Amino acid sequence: MNEFIAGLPKCELHLHIEGTLEPSLKAELARRNKLDLEFRSYEFDDLTSFLAVYYEGMQVLRTEPDFYDLAMGYLRKAASQNVRYAEIFFDPQAHTSRGVPFSVVIGGLRRALLDAEKQLGVRAQLIMCFLRDFQAEYAMATLLESLPYKEWIIGVGLDSDEKGNPPAKFAAVYERARQEGYLLTMHCDVDQDNSIEHIRQAIQDIGVDRIDHGVNILEDQKLVEEILAKGIGLTCCPISNGVVTDSMKAEGIRKLLDLGVRVTINSDDPAYFPGYVQENLAALNLSREELLQVERNAFEIAWLPRHVKDAYLAELESYGAA
Ligand code: ADE
Ligand code: ZN
Repeated sequence: MNEFIAGLPKCELHLHIEGTLEPSLKAELARRNKLDLEFRSYEFDDLTSFLAVYYEGMQVLRTEPDFYDLAMGYLRKAASQNVRYAEIFFDPQAHTSRGVPFSVVIGGLRRALLDAEKQLGVRAQLIMCFLRDFQAEYAMATLLESLPYKEWIIGVGLDSDEKGNPPAKFAAVYERARQEGYLLTMHCDVDQDNSIEHIRQAIQDIGVDRIDHGVNILEDQKLVEEILAKGIGLTCCPISNGVVTDSMKAEGIRKLLDLGVRVTINSDDPAYFPGYVQENLAALNLSREELLQVERNAFEIAWLPRHVKDAYLAELESYGAA
């Protein structure tokens, strides 16, 4: 089965580029930037404790080449796992709040995406996430700051600590993002306080195109029917779930897949959780047909023109047939 998964043409839709910062690159960047930082060990068991380690680690990212190397490192790994297309989250506020200019962050990431497409044959696009534990006004300012780079950003997301930070807090930011032509997704992390109400707000009040995580939707039959009718997909991350909650939520993910929800399997923060998309797909003991369906779902809900999706879907079907 590992061999079947290895050859599967893959689409990754939930990947935080800062979450791909492997300890070896962190050490190299600390040396390069002459930083004498102490890092706590990778000990976390929920979202809040994970985020503390995650934000601490990314302080080594300072210059355009740092962001280039980070993204290029991920894209090399992705290519080695036959990821054909990726939508990559980045957290500009985690850098601008430390004095790193927006242009430096996006400049390095963008250059890596262009090189990866040419050199590795992996296509990727960027999704800009707002940090939900900062004020909505800062998210709005970040949205405005992104506008000169609009051509390089396919959509917006919402991440960081969900506790006390519901989707509704960012309604005006999302409305403006939609007006600017960005596609919309947001995290509805697993087993949060008010998970179901947050999922409802995301779907009904914000009008998202996708939801990141979102497995708690199973607790509300009507909402499941609504996402089925609207074709809204979920970007699930089993290994991440296994670290920050009590389980990988494998049963729930499978149930959603059985119900026909457009479930996808992704890696979230693979340097931390740990496991890239190959390992996440392997973690669930899915059948070949289920694995093919997961990747069908992913290419189907990807933010790509129809003819590009169709080319990837054809590649997937010919792999399945062979
Ligand atoms: N930032 C990086 N990974 C995240 C996750 N899984 N949930 C919320 N915010 C994040
Ligand atoms: Zn995430």
